Amino acid sequence: MIESKSNHILHANLSIDIAEIVNKFSTPLIIYSVIELNNRIVELQAALPVESRLLYSVKANPNPFVLNLFNQAGFGFEVASVGELQHLIKSKINSDRIVLGGPIKSKEAILSGIQNHILSYNVESEQDLQNIASASNQRLNISLRINPDFSNRNSLLKMGGVSSQFGIDENNVIPLIRKYKNEVNINGLFMFNGSQFFDAQDIIQNTSFLIEFAEKNKDEFNQLDFLDFGGGFGVAETADQSGLNMNILKTGLADLFKSKKQFLDRVKYKFFESGRYLTATSAILVSKVLDIKYSKGKKYIILDTGINHLGIRQLHYRTQRSFISTLKENEHYSPAILTGATCTPIDIILNEVDFPNVSVDDLILIHNVGAYTSTLSPYNFCGFTYPAEVAVDTNGYVLLIRERGDIENSCGLGYKVYGEE
Ligand SMILES: Cc1ncc(COP(=O)(O)O)c(C=O)c1O
Repeated sequence: MIESKSNHILHANLSIDIAEIVNKFSTPLIIYSVIELNNRIVELQAALPVESRLLYSVKANPNPFVLNLFNQAGFGFEVASVGELQHLIKSKINSDRIVLGGPIKSKEAILSGIQNHILSYNVESEQDLQNIASASNQRLNISLRINPDFSNRNSLLKMGGVSSQFGIDENNVIPLIRKYKNEVNINGLFMFNGSQFFDAQDIIQNTSFLIEFAEKNKDEFNQLDFLDFGGGFGVAETADQSGLNMNILKTGLADLFKSKKQFLDRVKYKFFESGRYLTATSAILVSKVLDIKYSKGKKYIILDTGINHLGIRQLHYRTQRSFISTLKENEHYSPAILTGATCTPIDIILNEVDFPNVSVDDLILIHNVGAYTSTLSPYNFCGFTYPAEVAVDTNGYVLLIRERGDIENSCGLGYKVYGEE
């Protein structure tokens, strides 16, 4: 997490004056730390077997500046739509690093994948397989996503091991391979059982399951080139969540890869996927107090940010005080409700917590907004716009990496109005 104290972000040997950045770019403002992003890249890569490669999940944060850092780190990219795919191409990511996933791919996504010669497709159903197979007579690389019979103990977002729209139930995978073996190049297996695993054993168990399954059934494939173990690397976004123990993860995965070396050496691509771990802690949202008012005995602090920028995470975090701090130190607290300025009663940031006695125009910092914040926010709600984004680089320089949303397009979302020429 980015530490802040006395108006400054404290970071390695850099001390960055937030108020100065805000004077230049105004609020609400998202500030990324390149040092934090780099640290996360190094930490996660260090925990994963050297023979494996990371795919960055674009859905966590598609900012081209962020994509470029991961591209430079040598990562591949996991996309879930034609929009993400074309965004990567526009952002100059090499298409042979792109894997297309998602529960059912649109025709446009498949055609764009074929035109751009992307690396592979993670297929989630027989219909999905047929759609891809019928779109091309080229030999595309296709991995089947397994929904295994076992369920992990702890995951905040279970996507496998339970009934879901994702993947193919374990006992249907081999029959599907046999049925299409002569028609389609199924040369990989994929599994993504969930997100926000805080117990490294769950991730080790998932990886182990996929290796065992692949080894047991290796003769079913003409060739087995891809094993994508997924991930779900957990990151603590609030004080009540514990982080993932990277040492346990590293040792467990290293032992597993060592014990299966002979088999794994024959598989060309061994992937893990991550979005949240790499980006969540890399950004803070700086917001200004617009009003303080009392209603029927309760205190309301109204900010210039809210669910329009914090999105669905705020539905879970309303009672969590720990991810919000004030820029000015303030020792006096009183119970308050923090809200956004959009016109809906659901725009609650914090519900009745002890909060410092701030004043109008004070700056409030909302931490850990780097993942699933911009992508899961209704930022045009009520005609509001998206905040500007800046990045502080390793020398302390501040770069604008996304312009503030355009008020003219805040309701029209940029589409043409009927009757316009
Ligand atoms: C298929 C797939 N891969 C990767 C991810 C990224 O997960 P996380 O951000 O927890 O790393 C997701 C998240 O939903 C996913 O569905």
